[in-house]
Amino acid sequence: MKTLALNSSPRTGIQSKTELMLDHLVTGMKEAGAEVEVVNLRKKKINSCMGCFTCWTKTPGKCIHEDDMTNELYPKWLEADIAIYATPLYHYTMNATMKAFIERTLPVVEPFLREREGNTYHPLRQKHPKLCFLSVAGFPEPQVFNQLSAWVNFVYGQYGIVVGEIYRPLAEVLDLPFFREKVDDIFSATEQAGKEIVQAGKISPETMARITQPIVDDKKEFYEMGNKMWEACIEKGLTPKEFMEQLEG
Ligand SMILES: Cc1cc2nc3c(=O)[nH]c(=O)nc-3n(C[C@H](O)[C@H](O)[C@H](O)COP(=O)(O)O)c2cc1C
Repeated sequence: MKTLALNSSPRTGIQSKTELMLDHLVTGMKEAGAEVEVVNLRKKKINSCMGCFTCWTKTPGKCIHEDDMTNELYPKWLEADIAIYATPLYHYTMNATMKAFIERTLPVVEPFLREREGNTYHPLRQKHPKLCFLSVAGFPEPQVFNQLSAWVNFVYGQYGIVVGEIYRPLAEVLDLPFFREKVDDIFSATEQAGKEIVQAGKISPETMARITQPIVDDKKEFYEMGNKMWEACIEKGLTPKEFMEQLEG
């Protein structure tokens, strides 16, 4: 099973919780036999869709831009059985880098107008890869992902291609030692999710419950810790990354 894992986080290493979660998902998928390529979109040149519809008219299926999307990513994406869209939650939705990528997949549909269950849609020109969305958020409530999930299901549910939605709230604590036991279980469940996607084409409710499990019992505990960190950053004039580096010596 060919998998293209796209990571749109601008951050890297343990600072990026998108990357942390994606690493575990990919590990599980590889263990189950998938062939996975991870692409960091921050390193790629992806121009904005210009809305010219050249890809629908003059060169059907081919975008007018000459950039990494046209020359490298789009052909790989078309060949993939599954694409993972891994994005940090920004303003309660995917970030702009991921949105730019998705908008550039317009050539995969034809311009024609059809109707299904009262909704207008464009028919697919080519096979669309199955999709697994992965997102992480700073806030602790699972409902911060409601808008993203509604969007995912509205846009892609109609094509029946969504094989997973992995949403992890309170993700900024995933690299802290205080919650090791729960975090290890979240990571191992994320690996399990990867295996299930490859083996069963879906993620079981038990695995999802482990991925989204609460990390702190009382939100105030998290507010206190977070607010102390921000106060210290402001006082010392440090970004969170610089602050953590200073703490670690
Ligand atoms: C521009 C911006 C917008 C954000 N918006 C939200 C948000 O709407 N809800 C939320 O819970 N967290 C929000 N966050 C926090 C990020 O989702 C969180 O820091 C996450 O870990 C980022 O992913 P990364 O670690 O891979 O960079 C936002 C962060 C940034 C920088």
